[in-house]
Amino acid sequence: MRIVRLPAAMQRIALQWKRSGCPIGFVPTMGFLHEGHLSLVRAARRRVGPAGAVVVSIYVNPTQFAPTEDLSRYPRDWKEDLRLCRREGVDVVFAPTDAAMYAGRDAGDYSTYVAEEQLTRGLEGAARPTHFRGVTTIVAKLFNVVLPDVAVFGAKDWQQAAVVRRMVADLNFPLKVVVAPTHREPDGLAMSSRNVYLSAEERAQAVVLWRALQQARAEVKATGKSLRADALRARLTALIGTQPAARIDYVEFFDPDTMVPVDRVSRGTQLAMAVFIGKTRLIDNGKV
Ligand code: PAF
Repeated sequence: MRIVRLPAAMQRIALQWKRSGCPIGFVPTMGFLHEGHLSLVRAARRRVGPAGAVVVSIYVNPTQFAPTEDLSRYPRDWKEDLRLCRREGVDVVFAPTDAAMYAGRDAGDYSTYVAEEQLTRGLEGAARPTHFRGVTTIVAKLFNVVLPDVAVFGAKDWQQAAVVRRMVADLNFPLKVVVAPTHREPDGLAMSSRNVYLSAEERAQAVVLWRALQQARAEVKATGKSLRADALRARLTALIGTQPAARIDYVEFFDPDTMVPVDRVSRGTQLAMAVFIGKTRLIDNGKV
């Protein structure tokens, strides 16, 4: 497994692979890898086959964090990340520095951003107004450096995956975006690097996001027709509110294609939630 630090070096390797007809699978991450990430790596490997190349990027991207967010606290474990990537048969870990990705950013020399303007309006985009511009910018840069044929994203960051898909279509990136299912702990909590921030008590309460998703599914299944979104939201809010450490940022029902909020919830409507458990902001989502 090679570890590559410089974008130009990564591009050279990717171009060599391309010239020899070797398909490239790519999993962008911010490190602190867990089973959820590894399931994306396996999905990438399945897509490109044993003769293909799998690249994992490990880069905590500063432009997707607001000044008030947890950039400096973001968990990191470089040695363990490398061990896991080796174990999964990753070909290259691309781990650039800030200076390499945003040359002279602190000196104000970096000035080109990619912004999606429709799907980013609600949910995470509304709660974290500068977030998606940072995501689309870094993902576009990573695509230009790694030159993947297929890039794998997790469904837990559902809006992110939709936004990246739209960016790929709008900007004609020659690659396929694959969205792999959310990986969950045995009790249903969606795997996330941020789960490490939870105390034991908070960890027990965090499962309420999964319970809310299940309750929404059960209610829609039980009625067999559509339910009023505001009434269902109120019931999920009450459920989440039973956990003393929980504070809701949003609970939204929306159309999975347009991301436009809906008034009525039926099978196939997407539910997305952002809930603080103590100081840790967790997100989860799924089709009802
Ligand atoms: O989902 C993430 O970990 C990040 O948003 C990504 C896609 C690696 C971009 O920094």
